[in-house]
Amino acid sequence: MECRRFLLNLLAAGFLTGGLLVSGCAPEKAELVRVGTIEDGDINPANWGKVYPHNYDSWAKTKDPRPAGMSRYKKGYDTDLVIYDKLSEFPYMAVLFNGWGFGVEYNEPRGHHYMVIDQLEIDPSRLKAGGACLTCKSPYVPKLREQLGAAYFSDPYLDVHAKIPKEFQTLGAACSDCHDNRTMGLKLSRWTLGRAIKDMGRDPDRVIRQEARLLVCAQCHVTYVIPKDGEMKSTDVFFPWQGSKTGDISIENIIKVIRSDPSHMEWTQAVTGFKVGFIRHPEYEFYTRGGVHYRSNVACADCHMPYTRVGANKISDHNVMSPLKADLKACQQCHTETPDKLRDRVYTIQDRTVSLMNRSGYATAVTARLFGIIHAAQAEGKVIDEELYERAKDLYLEALYRVIFIGAENSVGFHNPTEAGRICGDAVAMASKAESFLRQAAAQAGVELPADINLELARYLNERGVRKLMFRPEFEFQDPFGTQEMITPVATQGR
Ligand code: HEC
Ligand code: HEC
Ligand code: HEC
Ligand code: HEC
Repeated sequence: MECRRFLLNLLAAGFLTGGLLVSGCAPEKAELVRVGTIEDGDINPANWGKVYPHNYDSWAKTKDPRPAGMSRYKKGYDTDLVIYDKLSEFPYMAVLFNGWGFGVEYNEPRGHHYMVIDQLEIDPSRLKAGGACLTCKSPYVPKLREQLGAAYFSDPYLDVHAKIPKEFQTLGAACSDCHDNRTMGLKLSRWTLGRAIKDMGRDPDRVIRQEARLLVCAQCHVTYVIPKDGEMKSTDVFFPWQGSKTGDISIENIIKVIRSDPSHMEWTQAVTGFKVGFIRHPEYEFYTRGGVHYRSNVACADCHMPYTRVGANKISDHNVMSPLKADLKACQQCHTETPDKLRDRVYTIQDRTVSLMNRSGYATAVTARLFGIIHAAQAEGKVIDEELYERAKDLYLEALYRVIFIGAENSVGFHNPTEAGRICGDAVAMASKAESFLRQAAAQAGVELPADINLELARYLNERGVRKLMFRPEFEFQDPFGTQEMITPVATQGR
């Protein structure tokens, strides 16, 4: 039935010809072979695995390194065993995020097996928010929150983590995060998502299966706010979706919610001294905002958990990863092109996004540094026009949140290419306008500015955190079209 609806959607969109395969339409169901029962409240995947051994085996593979050399931009933890970091990939982020954990260590994601392990291994500055950090990581979290109440959010991370029973202390996304133990239907286990759906005026218990194949991922692959009290202790974790609608959670509205309350300001940006919020991995919001695949009723699981045969059984592949590293088999359920052609289509989108990410990231970093210069001039007694300054600050913050958003979204534009272009384009315009306001104010105040603002990248990129992390130039994603060099020449970046 859902299959038929999917076909109707395709018909309506006029897409039945060309490169699309019709018979292999994705939302058909794998057979469910059950050989036992699972106790209520059991979060131990090994016990679920006794009943569903094939699903368990594929789930356990999220521990394995992924084939190297299969993805241009999402090298996570591949067979080369290198951990790739975003600050080296996009050096402007080091300038912008300086002042808190994300400016110290910010790595590309890897398999679900590692989500808690990575928290225990990352620079401790990333865990300052406390127990709240575990919210989209440990399957034990719903229990911790019940037991600890407000202290769950505010207590130090390691204290809260120590309350998880030993055997589950490094366990990442488990069966119980996504499934009901009795029916094996998909289930939303996080209060954060339930509340966010209610905030959008819907009932989280009334979700049809194809939407659930998106929403189980939206428990974690979304942005969230960790509001702070007067002592900068965490008080909650919530999704900034108030005022939005399913399929229309815009960057504009996310920023509006973040900027609406001082308690949402989670850190102070060192370069500008501004208190700001943050945006994390907004895969769900970005994907669902009118993208081509979302509109065609394609869910996260269709591309990241395709059906695969194990002996006589057909299961959803639980070794969730980049479809490029699984040789684009998921795409071939619907597209008839060869894996090479499909990979090329992904790269075409991602190259353009990376070019725009550079454009918007550097424009925003230049403006951030300009604020630093203006603040130093003010400290020396120069009087800066207040109206120009406020307009510059407002536009700068708007640009900054857009740059954070697109850098944190993990598909490098693929999930929604035209939206990526729109967001980056707006950020470029906003950062550049802010720069011109600041230059005008500086000129009026008799502050002389160089034509090119030096970014002093080396200062922000090297010797970061307790492990003194360094810039890895071989990781950098320079503008694939070379255009950035015309705007912020490398010679002015202070590398
Ligand atoms: C309980 C939270 C949670 C849920 C639910 C979840 N994810 Fe993840 N996912 C994460 C975290 C955290 C990471 C990064 C782990 C790391 O780097 O240590 C991640 C990583 C990934 C990766 C990168 C894997 C790799 O090999 O590098 C993909 C792809 C992914 N998730 C897709 C999905 C999809 C699709 C769904 C829904 C079917 C989903 N996730 C559900 C938290 C979650
Ligand atoms: C139409 C197919 C498709 C759909 C649907 C889809 N993705 Fe993706 N996703 C991709 C591709 C392609 C990439 C880029 C992979 C690469 O560059 O290696 C990607 C990348 C990712 C990554 C980063 C993977 C990595 O290795 O670091 C995550 C996480 C992710 N997607 C999560 C999601 C979530 C959550 C949803 C649903 C809201 C979703 N995806 C929907 C195709 C899809
Ligand atoms: C990140 C979320 C997630 C996690 C974790 C997860 N699953 Fe699933 N699982 C899914 C999705 C999505 C489907 C597809 C459901 C559908 O299409 O109705 C699925 C389907 C299934 C099915 C139905 C048959 C099939 O393969 O489609 C079984 C059985 C199953 N999972 C077992 C498990 C077991 C056992 C574990 C733990 C070892 C587990 N799952 C962990 C998301 C998850
Ligand atoms: C469940 C079916 C389905 C799956 C799975 C799927 N697609 Fe699509 N894809 C569609 C439909 C429907 C369209 C819209 C019709 C069109 O433009 O061809 C589309 C459009 C596209 C487009 C053009 C639109 C755009 O966003 O630029 C590209 C490129 C694309 N898909 C690549 C992929 C890749 C790569 C994968 C695997 C990672 C994939 N698709 C997986 C159904 C699917």
